[in-house]
Amino acid sequence: MPTTVVTGSASGIGAAVCRQLQAAGHRVIGIDRAQADIVADLSSAGGRQAAVSAAIDACGGVLDGLVCCAGVGVTAPSSGLIVSVNYFGMSELVDGLADCLQKGQQPAVLLVGSVAAVQPGVEQIPLVETLLAGDEARAVAAADAMAQPAAAYAASKFAITAYARRKAVAWGKLGIRLNVLAPGAVETPLHKASLDDPRYGQAVKNFVAPIGRAGQPDEIAQVVAFLQSQQASFVHGAVMFVDGGMDAMIRPQRF
Ligand code: NAI
Repeated sequence: MPTTVVTGSASGIGAAVCRQLQAAGHRVIGIDRAQADIVADLSSAGGRQAAVSAAIDACGGVLDGLVCCAGVGVTAPSSGLIVSVNYFGMSELVDGLADCLQKGQQPAVLLVGSVAAVQPGVEQIPLVETLLAGDEARAVAAADAMAQPAAAYAASKFAITAYARRKAVAWGKLGIRLNVLAPGAVETPLHKASLDDPRYGQAVKNFVAPIGRAGQPDEIAQVVAFLQSQQASFVHGAVMFVDGGMDAMIRPQRF
């Protein structure tokens, strides 16, 4: 039975991922701020270290899978919080659990990015390189100084995607598969909060995928379960869009 750690396990996409992986025979160790096997706050370095230590104890030092879903959206209390959770809350879990994953059976890691990462011009936002440099204090200050939380959110998702892609060569040699799944709009509490926010509600309503609707958490979780399975044994370093066609709509000639 493979053992998989899932962050953001209490809600939305993460909760659906836990259900799908359990149905596929995984032992799941959930991490979240509440209602989880491991209760930890991934927005602080101390919380992340505590989460990693507890996960190592829970898996006995041997881990077959890691799925990082925990994230906050554009309605978060601050843009600094967005980058702390969405970037460092994923990258530090990946780095902290790497040794356990290397000892696992056909290990695989999946990070939940976003179609927001393909918005035109995101890669030019200076915050992206600050994140990739791993400097949390400077990144939080830079994010808090930005006028638009949506730009900080997009930068956090672009950076975590680039973080994964940059690891693909080294981790391929270690035998650990590492992929990113980029959802489009998915009906979860995070999405509902954006819809209800007067700053973003109309834009979110207008941003309809070619398929004509938002997705359901299970439609994301099914793909996660596939990517974490042996059926996906040659899928590595990939960015999988599960977005009802939004990426194709935004940039039809980039792939
Ligand atoms: P959600 O709000 O339903 O679930 C997010 C989970 O992350 C919650 O259980 C929350 O408690 C946890 N979390 C947040 N901050 C945390 C912290 N500091 N420490 C520990 N856990 C924390 O949201 P949803 O939609 O399921 O989001 C999952 C991932 O999908 C996020 O990374 C989000 O950015 C991404 N995503 C969501 C989209 C959507 O339309 N719902 C679209 C694209 C990406």
